[in-house]
Amino acid sequence: MARVDGNARDMTGISKVGVIGAGTMGAGIAQVAAQGGMDVVLIDTTDEFVQRGVSRIESGLRRLVDKGRIDANARDSVIARIAPGTDLELIAEVDLVVEAVIESFDAKAAVFRDVSDVVGSSTILATNTSSISITALAGTVPHPEQFVGMHFFNPVPVMKLVEVVRGLQTDDRTAAIVHDAATRLGKTPVTVADIPGFAANRILMPMINEAIFALSEGVASADDIDTVMTLGASHPMGPLALADLIGLDVCLHIMEVLHGDFGDSKYRPAPLLRQMVAAGRLGRKTGQGFHQYEDA
Ligand SMILES: NC(=O)c1ccc[n+]([C@@H]2O[C@H](COP(=O)([O-])OP(=O)(O)OC[C@H]3O[C@@H](n4cnc5c(N)ncnc54)[C@H](O)[C@@H]3O)[C@@H](O)[C@H]2O)c1
Repeated sequence: MARVDGNARDMTGISKVGVIGAGTMGAGIAQVAAQGGMDVVLIDTTDEFVQRGVSRIESGLRRLVDKGRIDANARDSVIARIAPGTDLELIAEVDLVVEAVIESFDAKAAVFRDVSDVVGSSTILATNTSSISITALAGTVPHPEQFVGMHFFNPVPVMKLVEVVRGLQTDDRTAAIVHDAATRLGKTPVTVADIPGFAANRILMPMINEAIFALSEGVASADDIDTVMTLGASHPMGPLALADLIGLDVCLHIMEVLHGDFGDSKYRPAPLLRQMVAAGRLGRKTGQGFHQYEDA
């Protein structure tokens, strides 16, 4: 990214990205950034975790080659643009950091403290959090005006949406540059305010929760509730099947955030959702949720 002076930034955008956390989301973000022509540094805490992320990217790209969406040369140059590692110093020169570590305020704040010690003063800092306040996280860094939420969806290479979440302090320039970067990754960015759940989870999770209430009250079976919403509302997937895909523990966590932050009983998690999580029936990842899965 061209810099006009030490702290100014032109609008030609981001050319080098540091992704912190090489898990499900971080690997996907690194992949789409490299596919978008950006140089990427992918950081995790151990060589094993970094390698797991790289393997995930390689198998994602292999599928694209198999389907004829990209050729082998394109795959090789995407992989060549990704520099994996465990040393945070590797991100010293990046224009944008996207943090995708575990969903914990303390863990993320610690990452941003270490990142701030390493990067230049004009680097934009973004978090992929699904539920933590952008404004509160921005309060932990020296330049909160250059801090923003960049909420990708799973699986990142497939899902088109990025919520660009503006904290109270995020300046217009930061929001515009991140908006532009998301577009260059082939995504459709939507700017949303830093209010719990942002837009997608604020709307989606209460619908899933209501479907769980309907199931527990005997309105219809799980299969029939999903059929109602696929055929009656043209949703590509029923809410209970979607909850199983997301993970019932994740759904419960997000409902608890909405309920706690708004203090409004309309967000109370369905008791059946709590029971399912307590029973370890977390959805696809455990083989059993509202539906059964044989390939878990
Ligand atoms: N999975 C989803 O569907 C989804 C969707 C949108 C947003 N998110 C958010 O994205 C973030 C990551 O979620 P995920 O599903 O990829 O988690 P994950 O558990 O798959 O990956 C997290 C990775 O971060 C690494 N990590 C932890 N601490 C670190 C540190 N200090 N430095 C570097 N790496 C570190 C872990 O080793 C792990 O590889 C969370 O904030 C989550 O809420 C997840």
